[in-house]
Amino acid sequence: MVTRVATVAFEGIEARAVDVQVQITPGAVAFTVVGLPDKAVAESRERVRSALIASGLALPAKRITVNLAPADLPKEGSHYDLPIALGMMCAIGALPADALSGYCVLGELALDGSLTAVAGVLPAAMAANARGLGLICPAASGPEAAWAAGDMDVLAPRSLIQLANHFKGTQVMARPVPAVAAPAGVLADLREIKGQEGAKRALEIAAAGAHNLLMNGPPGAGKSMLAARLPSILPPLGPRELLEVSMIQSVAGTLKDGALSNRRPFRAPHHSASMAALVGGGCHFQQMLRLI
Ligand SMILES: Nc1ncnc2c1ncn2[C@@H]1O[C@H](COP(=O)(O)OP(=O)(O)OP(=O)(O)O)[C@@H](O)[C@H]1O
Ligand SMILES: [Mg+2]
Repeated sequence: MVTRVATVAFEGIEARAVDVQVQITPGAVAFTVVGLPDKAVAESRERVRSALIASGLALPAKRITVNLAPADLPKEGSHYDLPIALGMMCAIGALPADALSGYCVLGELALDGSLTAVAGVLPAAMAANARGLGLICPAASGPEAAWAAGDMDVLAPRSLIQLANHFKGTQVMARPVPAVAAPAGVLADLREIKGQEGAKRALEIAAAGAHNLLMNGPPGAGKSMLAARLPSILPPLGPRELLEVSMIQSVAGTLKDGALSNRRPFRAPHHSASMAALVGGGCHFQQMLRLI
């Protein structure tokens, strides 16, 4: 019999549906993961094996095959640990067979069976919600997942044992609460600028009308200084913008403790920064560029 668990693969900030299929058959003892896994996914075998043993479950001395479908989509990252482990627990009867049917699952396992936060939980939760599924993710990422929709079923266990107890009904988990990040530090303020009335007026008009701005002037005239003070007069992010900005931060792994911030992002790249440093690089990025 094949156990199926829904998870995702990331393409940019888009979460594509991936099906983790676990099959345990009689035969030579082996544990193989197929379906274009990268090194982190292939290594999940060791984490899953140790985490299950630490949770008091032994892997059967049989042939275990894990397939990540669709087989032609590259799978990257450590978030496949949890769906593989849960698929295995269903296959050996440690979880009810239909327990995971309504959930999308992602999370990394530590060797002691506890769950570690992963990047991309927010886009995964939004994609799961669009597919009518709930989400199972590590406790540390729970506050981030809870943002996707107010009525969505989100389970954020600390460990495999806590999740097993939840499905058994002995220790039912509460839904995580969406978290908002406390404003980090004070913003550079427009009031600090001496003179430059024309430039300040231009900043205000651009901020009010959401216009683009091109600054031109000799070195030391205060262009960078003016630009850094623009966020102080911009309104906080609206709900849609908040999710859009946070999805990028989520995939990049820069959301602290799963808390979202409504502060507008400000980046000040150095003028000598290369194209790749500004907009990203790598083989997947090149593929995406070709598609555009
Ligand atoms: N009107 C001003 N009020 C307060 N400080 C100013 C003003 N104009 C310039 N400065 C000071 O001058 C310094 C240099 O300005 P800034 O780095 O913004 O120049 P720039 O126009 O970006 O130069 P570059 O073309 O070399 O990047 C700033 O750190 C700032 O402290
Ligand atoms: Mg400058």
